[in-house]
Amino acid sequence: MINHDVLIIGAGLAGMRAALAAGDNGADVAVVTKVHPVRSHSNAAQGGINAALTDRGDDWRDHAYDTIKGSDYLGDQDAIEIMCREAGSEVISMEHMGVIFSRDEEGRLGTRAFGGQRQARTFFVADFTGQALLHVLHEQVLKAGVRVYEEWFVLSLIVEEGQCAGAVVMEMRTGGVHVMRAKAVIMASGGLGRVFEPSTNALICTGDGMALSYRAGAPLMDQEMVQYHPTTLKGSGVLITEGARGEGAHLLNSKGERFMERYAPNMMELASRDVVSRSEQTEIDEGRGIDGCVLLDCRHLGEQVIREKLSQIQDIARDFAGVDITREPIPIRPGMHYQMGGIKTDVNGSTAVPGLYAAGECACVSVHGGNRLGANSLLDTLVFGRRSGQHASDLAKSKPHAPITDAAAEDDLERIRALLENDGEYMFGRLRLDLGRAMDRRLSVFRNQQGMEQALTEVRDVRERYRNVRVADKGKTFNTNLMFTLELGFMIDCAETIVLSALERRESRGAHTRTDMPDRDDDNWLKHVLVKSTPDGPRIEHLPVVITEWEPQARVY
Ligand code: FUM
Repeated sequence: MINHDVLIIGAGLAGMRAALAAGDNGADVAVVTKVHPVRSHSNAAQGGINAALTDRGDDWRDHAYDTIKGSDYLGDQDAIEIMCREAGSEVISMEHMGVIFSRDEEGRLGTRAFGGQRQARTFFVADFTGQALLHVLHEQVLKAGVRVYEEWFVLSLIVEEGQCAGAVVMEMRTGGVHVMRAKAVIMASGGLGRVFEPSTNALICTGDGMALSYRAGAPLMDQEMVQYHPTTLKGSGVLITEGARGEGAHLLNSKGERFMERYAPNMMELASRDVVSRSEQTEIDEGRGIDGCVLLDCRHLGEQVIREKLSQIQDIARDFAGVDITREPIPIRPGMHYQMGGIKTDVNGSTAVPGLYAAGECACVSVHGGNRLGANSLLDTLVFGRRSGQHASDLAKSKPHAPITDAAAEDDLERIRALLENDGEYMFGRLRLDLGRAMDRRLSVFRNQQGMEQALTEVRDVRERYRNVRVADKGKTFNTNLMFTLELGFMIDCAETIVLSALERRESRGAHTRTDMPDRDDDNWLKHVLVKSTPDGPRIEHLPVVITEWEPQARVY
């Protein structure tokens, strides 16, 4: 058995920020991750990180208001206040740790405009901000001597007398299954993007942490809120950063019109993401698209701006679509990008299961509500990663380890044995594709009752077929066939919670746009939807939204 005070699951920005904070607080910390830390999906974040710095004439309250309006008033305002108040010091401390942010002409940290915000407050490193932050945090984690278990895959959380006491984990190199005992566990395992197909997310984003926590008794909140990013590349669905529109790129339809004039005359291409995605989808559905896409035009930005600020998307468009963005517009469409919902936590990362914390995309604090503002996710990972690390380490200092033994791994060993012996007719790949396509078809930008009911049938059909899944590789060394099959089990749980929550919310709000119920209904639905796993199946509950000073208003851009 392996013992640590604080065990962090996931080595993206939230996990590594939590590790540093817990270590600084004197805890013996370990991080377990199914991939090498710098291959975490935070690496793919392009556009930037928001902060309202007072010396720029900005105010955290303005950032908070933009975030609340962006969330369509579903975000909890106490949490949003904390995030926006703490943003500046978090960005500056990343700079002090070594992140080389892009600069303005005067040599100060540069900012770019991002969607849904009245002020340019997005700090950035060209169009690979996540990568820059991730590498610096990894250096800091190495410097701090944090133990990182790389390419270890979590099978389950251990809950002993109602408290989270560690995790059962498989070492991919050997196939060995270990009990890792901890006084506090922080789930920081990222999102579930690949429950949809296509997605901007890495193939590793399979909702593991949400499903593990859900199975351990922690409710998932606002799972119906799935963000479709307005600019994902035709075909592959790779992200084309909102930073392009921040630098001035235009959206055009097949007639060459800047169609956002019709939908958001004030903010145009920089309205909130849900608004821009709906506008694009409307253009496409009404016959003003091109081959299922609209166009993102960067040509007028000029070669120098593109080279200095958008070099990654220049490469992506060339390599994945054969487009030279200095000469041609890019065919793009709305695509699955981010899960606003997740493991319900308080502002310190605590979940409903004592000893279990969550931070980053797998968590729902909730600072994004019905629609996340671009560049608020990196901020969320750092602010709430740090707070979770601080609070989990405080808890760890105050108590002994739970009296568990290696027997805690028995159920998982049995599950793996049964999977390897199952000679069923399906391989994980077919089922994963069927699941992802069903979710993309029925729960994308526009939804309706019939489509969502159909999705539930399809998800449950995949679950049925999953009982008959075969793992072809029976070996122990790097058995990725087994790992992908286990991931699919997590994905099915996540998909079901998304569809059930979406069916529950009988209004349109943020990213949850129902063509059969097109209006926001604050009288009945200014509340969160929670799904809890029970022995009788998923149970839906509600929680009021926390309003501090910003009363809901009509949302226009
Ligand atoms: O468009 C982007 O660069 C994405 C940023 C984000 O999701 O925060």
